[in-house]
Amino acid sequence: MPTETSESTQPTIDPKDLPSAQRPRHIAIIMDGNGRWAEAQGLPRIFGHRNGIRSVRAVVEEGCRIGLGQLTLYCFSSENWKRPQRELRFLFRLLRHFLIVERSELMEQNVRLTMIGRREGLPEDVLVEYDRTAAMTAGNSGMTLCLAVNYGARAEIAEAARRLARDAVAGVIDPGSVDEAAFSSYLSTAGMPDPDLLIRTAGEMRLSNYLLWQVSYAELHVTEVLWPDFRAEHLRRAVLDYARRPRKFGGLPGRSPTEGAV
Ligand code: IPE
Ligand code: IPE
Ligand code: MG
Repeated sequence: MPTETSESTQPTIDPKDLPSAQRPRHIAIIMDGNGRWAEAQGLPRIFGHRNGIRSVRAVVEEGCRIGLGQLTLYCFSSENWKRPQRELRFLFRLLRHFLIVERSELMEQNVRLTMIGRREGLPEDVLVEYDRTAAMTAGNSGMTLCLAVNYGARAEIAEAARRLARDAVAGVIDPGSVDEAAFSSYLSTAGMPDPDLLIRTAGEMRLSNYLLWQVSYAELHVTEVLWPDFRAEHLRRAVLDYARRPRKFGGLPGRSPTEGAV
């Protein structure tokens, strides 16, 4: 498991110079610790969320610089509805603001914006701004920035099973032909590569219902750094930590492509 020790050494290699086989194509991040960051300074939790936007900008920029194919950020889980109304309102205002303000920056960086999670339940004004930004950036050919909003992996898997069952009953799909690839095509991440590296900030050693199917062979990197303090250098450290790991996919040492997992 990754670690504070790996964080104490300064990275010497620039991740963009790593051979492509040692570079993650897709990084997923559980952006955690906003509340703790604010509370540590005697501020209301929402200040942590607001400052977390700087970290989002930093990882998007760094992801583009190192040639990442996809960055998937956990913004709001289907369990986060349990938070106080005031915090929820703030989070959605912030998301809407991000979608408007960052539009031109995403265009400039050639980033394509996508989203996973249930649209039902999300404020209409957030969906409108998301749809605008997604449409505007749809033709961009650089990094894909995927926001997981109102996302929960179990709900996603149950929804996939429901749609698959309907298609089987309708005769669109033969139940005997349902393999891992067929099932994946019913998930909201259909067509996306699985994450190679999963980063969680703020030290918790749990997945919190994030991409349970997709991270089955991802490398894990947990850092004590709280999300609002996370910057490009922390992403670089995580990538260099990843580059050192022999990925085996159940086989023997030696790097296999991700597809080798199946
Ligand atoms: C992550 O930070 C942001 C969201 C879940 C929306 P938290 O708000 O969970 O911060 P902590 O974990 O309470 O410090
Ligand atoms: C996970 O963080 C969800 C997001 C980062 C959006 P939480 O703070 O909600 O997770 P738990 O409650 O500590 O598991
Ligand atoms: Mg948290």
